[in-house]
Amino acid sequence: MEKQNIIVTSAMIYLLAMAPVYGQYYSETVRPRPRVEKMTRLHFYFHDIISGKNPAAVPIARPNITNAGLFLTLIAMDDPLTVGPELTSTNIGNTQGIYVWTAKDPTMFSAVFYADFAFTSGRFNGSSFGLFSRYPMTEIARASEQVIELAVVGGRGAFRMATGYARTRVTYANAENGDASLEFDVTLYHY
Ligand SMILES: *[C@@H]1O[C@H](CO)[C@@H](O)[C@H](O)[C@H]1NC(C)=O
Ligand SMILES: *[C@@H]1O[C@H](CO)[C@@H](O)[C@H](O)[C@H]1NC(C)=O
Repeated sequence: MEKQNIIVTSAMIYLLAMAPVYGQYYSETVRPRPRVEKMTRLHFYFHDIISGKNPAAVPIARPNITNAGLFLTLIAMDDPLTVGPELTSTNIGNTQGIYVWTAKDPTMFSAVFYADFAFTSGRFNGSSFGLFSRYPMTEIARASEQVIELAVVGGRGAFRMATGYARTRVTYANAENGDASLEFDVTLYHY
């Protein structure tokens, strides 16, 4: 019992030591120096690998309703990014995150992506951008251009506070096992 008390007391002392010295949670509001925005374009391929013994994207939850199809299936991914269209081409990073199939209409495929695209080589090694966007697959497949635009909502490292957009195009799709590859053309505005 005494030993426990000592642990609790030392934890409390530690927490007190961590407390801010001034009794408020905000700084003075200042006008930052004007920053000059930069623009970087990225081009790579994303591979969503669902099939096989070592998948990179796995369904982690689905509703317990019949005839739901893909509706509301939640998929977690750690998908590879490559320079070329082939999965075997040079790996430059990965996409970690989730996407959820969301279209209630069973004839429409639509998902929402919440993902972080990180680079592990080249000038942007260690940097990533965050994507949060709707992927209205069926709607776009019916259009002539077949490009789906996704919103970039932030970033880390060199891409800190990035905004921008990604234009994506399916370059490979296997209807049997669900595997797909997408070409990404990304325009990032950052500082
Ligand atoms: C799924 O729904 C059925 C019918 O409502 C129910 O009997 C079953 O226990 C549910 N399964 C799970 C895993 O919740
Ligand atoms: C990327 O950065 C990591 C961490 O700094 C480093 O270990 C790795 O060698 C770098 N990779 C390349 C290909 O530059």
